[in-house]
Amino acid sequence: MNKRILVTGGAGFIGSAFIRFSLAEMLSIEKLVNLDLLTYAANLEAVKECEKDPRYLFVPGSILQSALVEELCRSHEIDTIVHFAAESHVDRSIEDPFLFYRTNALGTLTLLEVVRRFPHIHFHHVSTDEVYGSLEEGEATEDFPYRPSSPYAASKAASDHFVQAYLRTYGISATLSHCSNNYGPFQNEEKFIPRMVRACLKKEALPLYGKGTNIRDWIFVEDHIRALWLILQERKSGERYNISANRLIRNIDVARAVIDKFGGEGSICFVEDRPGHDFRYAMSSKKMIDTLGWRPLYSFEEGLDLTIEWTCKLEKVHLST
Ligand SMILES: NC(=O)c1ccc[n+]([C@@H]2O[C@H](COP(=O)([O-])OP(=O)(O)OC[C@H]3O[C@@H](n4cnc5c(N)ncnc54)[C@H](O)[C@@H]3O)[C@@H](O)[C@H]2O)c1
Repeated sequence: MNKRILVTGGAGFIGSAFIRFSLAEMLSIEKLVNLDLLTYAANLEAVKECEKDPRYLFVPGSILQSALVEELCRSHEIDTIVHFAAESHVDRSIEDPFLFYRTNALGTLTLLEVVRRFPHIHFHHVSTDEVYGSLEEGEATEDFPYRPSSPYAASKAASDHFVQAYLRTYGISATLSHCSNNYGPFQNEEKFIPRMVRACLKKEALPLYGKGTNIRDWIFVEDHIRALWLILQERKSGERYNISANRLIRNIDVARAVIDKFGGEGSICFVEDRPGHDFRYAMSSKKMIDTLGWRPLYSFEEGLDLTIEWTCKLEKVHLST
């Protein structure tokens, strides 16, 4: 099992990290097919190093193309689907909620219909902490009620519900994971930490929504990938897992940490808050720790160093600090 994998959205930030890690570390893999529509968020450079691996195949296309997905499952004898493909930017979801509904909800439903026809395939659905909504205090456990705030979170919540419904109604084999905010190399420059780093590089003020006091829970992308592999290896259908490194940091403190890495050179500016901006996300990953023995390996600072180093290399800048 987990030998012949279909990855959706593998040219995106987390999907590409999953593919690089899997081909390098998981030697039992025989085939890894990457199905990606190549939207603005995709970056094939992130999987360039995989192209020479005979086990790897990139297929341009959409998760909404059910016949294509079915053909890939059949011809490559897929035993596992790891589903990352999504529209993932909250700000964009406020501009175009229908696109988020189509890709995230309808796209997942389309994949689930294919999975119904291949009962041996295990489906892992990559979800988010945002489905739990904003928590004034405490932490969301896996049985916490859903309270999505943005169209992005609502579309992810809908996709989660379909996975649960297919588990129960059709008896498919599936697992779900909810991860907190990821950061690391190859993240799209529209996202928070890449924006902060690039603003510092350009010697521009770092733009923060509202007063910068919103709290997010940060995890280095490779720690997320290791957690996914533990879930895939356990393959316990019906289980849901929260993946959080338990590092709740105010946005303003993330911006200050980035400025510190640039020797203190940088400034912050405040911009009009995002509508419906969730104040605080927090999840317990006790289940991942207790049942699968997972723990994050990177501190926030180590992950930030690696991210900044990668961005500087990309932008061909040398930091003197
Ligand atoms: N980034 C985070 O912090 C975070 C946290 C928790 C969960 N997640 C979830 O993880 C997954 C991956 O997130 P990411 O940050 O890598 O996203 P991303 O936006 O960087 O990448 C998404 C990828 O999906 C592809 N895609 C979009 N529509 C498609 C379609 N119809 N068919 C095939 N491919 C399509 C895009 O081309 C892109 O390569 C998403 O499901 C997201 O909800 C992300």
